[in-house]
Amino acid sequence: MGSLNSSENTKFSANIDQWIGTLPLLPGVVSQLLALKPDDEKYLDHVNRLASMDPTLTVRIVEYASRNMRVAQAEDGIQLRQAIARLGSRQISNLVLSLSLVDAFPALTQSDRDLWIHSVQVGVISRWLAILVPGLRLDPEHAYLSGLLHDIGRFIVFQTVPEGPSRIDELGWTDPLTLLSAEEKVLGINHVVIGSQACKVWGIPQTVIDIVERHHDFDLSSTTFEDRQLATRVSVTQMADAISMALMDQLNSSDYFQVEVFEEEQRASVVDACTSAMNKVIERGYTQLSATHQSNILNQIPDALELIIAESHKILTGLCINPVES
Ligand SMILES: [Fe+2]
Ligand SMILES: [Fe+2]
Repeated sequence: MGSLNSSENTKFSANIDQWIGTLPLLPGVVSQLLALKPDDEKYLDHVNRLASMDPTLTVRIVEYASRNMRVAQAEDGIQLRQAIARLGSRQISNLVLSLSLVDAFPALTQSDRDLWIHSVQVGVISRWLAILVPGLRLDPEHAYLSGLLHDIGRFIVFQTVPEGPSRIDELGWTDPLTLLSAEEKVLGINHVVIGSQACKVWGIPQTVIDIVERHHDFDLSSTTFEDRQLATRVSVTQMADAISMALMDQLNSSDYFQVEVFEEEQRASVVDACTSAMNKVIERGYTQLSATHQSNILNQIPDALELIIAESHKILTGLCINPVES
């Protein structure tokens, strides 16, 4: 099927604009938590205070900690402070945001579920890239948040135009650039524009909005120091995006992801898929990372894949999203 005619395009665009205007506000505590400065000596106290202001949220954080730590809540009776201590205060704001997003965009369809898996994976991979390649000078939690939110516009498309994903896929997009033009043909707008508008409404920090806005841009300016920093952050999300797409292909065609440790053959296949995805990004010039950072990433990521998959599953399970095909 071809693209929709222009009156249908207009209709979809109007729906999306309308939806942006009436986006459910995320709980105020989300933007307050995201605005906290982690190097503030009272950071932990502020996190505890903010998280305890919303009783529903308190219960959910404690429940998440119980599920994620495989601790029986009733027996253990862990409370908010302990939950925060176990999860890490830096991760609490990301968790609160994730819980709010799950409310706003529940995984009701296969497309929703795949997008949740992809978003969490890109967050986790970005965090690992920041940790494994310290020369990138990235804050791991910021990298995670940027990865988690990079495709938020697609959640909005899925919810607003349920038939959108299949119509877009019918146009046979093969890479990030053809995806954007397929979306524009079908919807009259793309997920980058929708996502960055939503993040502004929600009070997400500008440094994260920058990533949402530029994550399909492969020719960023490198004139100033700030330009180069942004290009590095965007390139990390793009590399994580490509690795996750390769993992998702493997996920769809195997049961590798039901095991905690790969068999040798499974490991080889997953490593091959991810390495070739990373090489493709480099060969196509879809990265602005230096040659040194590129080779560090190519060397480090294969050994981290099991951890990345396990960590993504843990987060998805904690959010009550089944990471494995049932
Ligand atoms: Fe995207
Ligand atoms: Fe993506």
